[in-house]
Amino acid sequence: MSEEKLMRLDMGKLDSHVHSERPILCLGIESSCDETSAAIVDSDRNILSHIIYSQIPEHQKFGGVVPELAARAHILAIDEVIKQTLAAAGKTIEDIDVVAATAGPGLIGGVLVGWMAATGIAQSANKPLVAVNHLEGHALVPRLCATLADGANKNVSVDFPYVLMLASGGHCQILLVHGVGKYELIGQTLDDSAGEAYDKVAKMLGLGYPGGPIVDKRAQNGKPDAFAFPRPLCDKPNCDFSFSGIKTAARTFLDKADGALSDEYIDDFCASFQAAVVDCIVNRLTNAMRDARVKAVAPKTLVVAGGVAKNSAIRSAMELLAQKYNMTFAAPPMNLCTDNGAMIAWAGLENWRVGKIVTEPVAPRPRWPLTELKNE
Ligand SMILES: Nc1ncnc2c1ncn2[C@@H]1O[C@H](COP(=O)(O)OP(=O)(O)OP(=O)(O)O)[C@@H](O)[C@H]1O
Ligand SMILES: [Mg+2]
Repeated sequence: MSEEKLMRLDMGKLDSHVHSERPILCLGIESSCDETSAAIVDSDRNILSHIIYSQIPEHQKFGGVVPELAARAHILAIDEVIKQTLAAAGKTIEDIDVVAATAGPGLIGGVLVGWMAATGIAQSANKPLVAVNHLEGHALVPRLCATLADGANKNVSVDFPYVLMLASGGHCQILLVHGVGKYELIGQTLDDSAGEAYDKVAKMLGLGYPGGPIVDKRAQNGKPDAFAFPRPLCDKPNCDFSFSGIKTAARTFLDKADGALSDEYIDDFCASFQAAVVDCIVNRLTNAMRDARVKAVAPKTLVVAGGVAKNSAIRSAMELLAQKYNMTFAAPPMNLCTDNGAMIAWAGLENWRVGKIVTEPVAPRPRWPLTELKNE
């Protein structure tokens, strides 16, 4: 159904809320991977409560997320997470104005658990329901709350349009964000995501799961030029990424290593790998800044989002790049980079504001590219 049609259908309902004296409250539910999370966020950009139940310890022994186990763990946790979220905000479901939940993309067993919980709550309490695209949660959360790379607690107002580096466990894309539901793809990975590259390299080194934070930490003590990792596609004029060559190089270096790896070896390895990833991101974003589609709308903000946005080296490099192009750099605070309910609640509010609420049954989707949103 088109955005226009949805807006017309729900205008009456919207009007009564838009003129409301008090902020609108949204309960957001996230369950697309290995975090069961819920949050209550209001339209004045306050997070009233936020509960994240992480399943990481349950998946660690398998070296990655096991979808079947994840779905079962979401079923066991979801009611309690929602109950605690309401209690922590001192609210009941009657106080909530909008219910939102991730409807994809993600591990479908988990998505179904969160989506069915949200549907049940919205229907029984007669509340509007928003089907949130998980990636849009990552993409819009810097409009709820953003900090600068130096950790200074400055809240930056991120207006449309902005350039978004979406770097998460499953995605690596450069997007031009024109508005809610309006995403233009500028570049994307041809193989792995940045998060996958971090996780796989960590696994090769025997560092555990998830690998991103561990490699990031080890890199801080290492020499970034100790190993000559390639910079795939950096000689190409487009904005695409490829991490498979970096991964293959990692395997080749490790095959040549003799005996147990010393701490110094691992630190140098992580620093060199990370330097290659950072160089690729900066190189690809530099091309994006020169892209005619980007120049045409003169975005004022460069944003990084997704779990990999926690990476301090990536944040610092992108801040420098933003300065070079006279742009403001913005990133979500650390706890809003990896999956969380607050980003879903905020995306729920942003979608609700433009009238995108559910009016007919929604089938959750394992695959749901951001670029398909504008046509819905
Ligand atoms: N400090 C860090 N440096 C690099 N990577 C990190 C860091 N912290 C977390 N990550 C990576 O972030 C990823 C998880 O991010 P996120 O939760 O957004 O992914 P996802 O939800 O599984 O994927 P998607 O959002 O694409 O569906 C993991 O690959 C993890 O290793
Ligand atoms: Mg995610």
